[in-house]
Amino acid sequence: MRNIFIACDTSSVPKIKSIIKKTQIKIKGYKIGYKFGLEFFYSIKGRQVISKLKNKIIFLDLKLNDIGNTCAAAIKSLKDLKNINYLTVHANSGEATLKSVVKATRKYNKKIRVIAITVLTSISNANIKKIGHTRSIKDLVKKQTLLAKACGCHGIVCAGSDTKFVKKIFKKEIIVPGIRLKGDSVGDQKRVSGPKEAFSNGATSIVVGRSITKNNIRKNIKRLIKELK
Ligand code: C5P
Repeated sequence: MRNIFIACDTSSVPKIKSIIKKTQIKIKGYKIGYKFGLEFFYSIKGRQVISKLKNKIIFLDLKLNDIGNTCAAAIKSLKDLKNINYLTVHANSGEATLKSVVKATRKYNKKIRVIAITVLTSISNANIKKIGHTRSIKDLVKKQTLLAKACGCHGIVCAGSDTKFVKKIFKKEIIVPGIRLKGDSVGDQKRVSGPKEAFSNGATSIVVGRSITKNNIRKNIKRLIKELK
């Protein structure tokens, strides 16, 4: 079963409730999950609201990127959140941190699948040169995927265009954000793909934010279903 994660990027609890209510829809062959990132988790009520969600696939996109000890301690602090299915860590945080994160989730919450973030979909080849990388995005994502695999991560986040080579070296979950429905503006994203394109290239799940949550959510869900056919 493939997952469609709705990115709940807001700090408003009523907006979160509305997103969840309007997206509780059966799509044959797919499961709907909810991704909570920095904006909601950092908000006053965010953590509490997430802790109370039941019977949902919950993706906590905290994008950990610190030393191993700090990340492991952060996971210990999350141990009361028994409903979390996915948690993200930057592959860039390196081997020791990735291993500590995998080890800490095994210790404190075995249900959590550790997902390594490779090069962000908001980053282009020109952008990574400015950070100081000399490799292309493709080479870097390959390296990061191999590292995440060696450290025992359960999944990879990469752009739709990366899935073709990622799936050759990584056989577990491949989650693709930067999804845009036809006609929608890309905004800050640089490497976007359509939902059908992402799945046919090898994604096992996609993350869709603004294309669903902006304007009319019910209409957007219908557009998504149409594009997946
Ligand atoms: O609104 P949009 O569909 O662009 O949102 C994409 C979501 O996926 C955001 O929550 C963003 O933080 C997340 N994400 C991403 N690119 C990555 C990893 C996560 O856009 N590489």
